[in-house]
Amino acid sequence: MSNPSKQSSPATSTESTRRDFMVLTGSAMAGLGACSVVWPFIHSMNPAADVLALASVEVDLAPIQPGQTIKVKWRGVPVFIRHRTPDDIKEARAVNVSDLPDPESDEMRVKKGSEQWLIMVGVCTHLGCIPMGGAGEYGGTNKGGWFCPCHGSHYDTSGRIRKGPAPKNLAVPQYEFLANNRVKIG
Ligand code: FES
Repeated sequence: MSNPSKQSSPATSTESTRRDFMVLTGSAMAGLGACSVVWPFIHSMNPAADVLALASVEVDLAPIQPGQTIKVKWRGVPVFIRHRTPDDIKEARAVNVSDLPDPESDEMRVKKGSEQWLIMVGVCTHLGCIPMGGAGEYGGTNKGGWFCPCHGSHYDTSGRIRKGPAPKNLAVPQYEFLANNRVKIG
């Protein structure tokens, strides 16, 4: 069990997820007065301890079965983690990359040797809605794609935009595997 403050509780998302100065002038006295006001203002802009704690998040992948997608929260945004099936991977790699709106091979979006794990920021690249997992026209036989219902963007089993107004593929965050079944995002 990891440090609870860094551990996000996965929430299954196989079901649909609908989802800052001021100018300081005047006398010395005024300056002193300003300082006493500005300090707490600046201090308040420092990241809070709980925000710093979420700069990265570790996730135990062991409970995530093939074909299942979970959602974790990282830096205030949802991150999708899908345990892809062989069919998901096959379909993602059967695409002519040059035909894609945002050409990226599947290999560029996953870690070599861990191709079954697809990890992406779950924010539509159009206007920021949260796409629905297990939906859309490019999910293949296992419904491994995503669909954004806000304006109709379809993402495939690699999270690449295939149809609709979204201009870019779902973003892949920085992450690393700490062990076979443990990943650190951020
Ligand atoms: S926000 Fe997703 S399609 Fe517009």
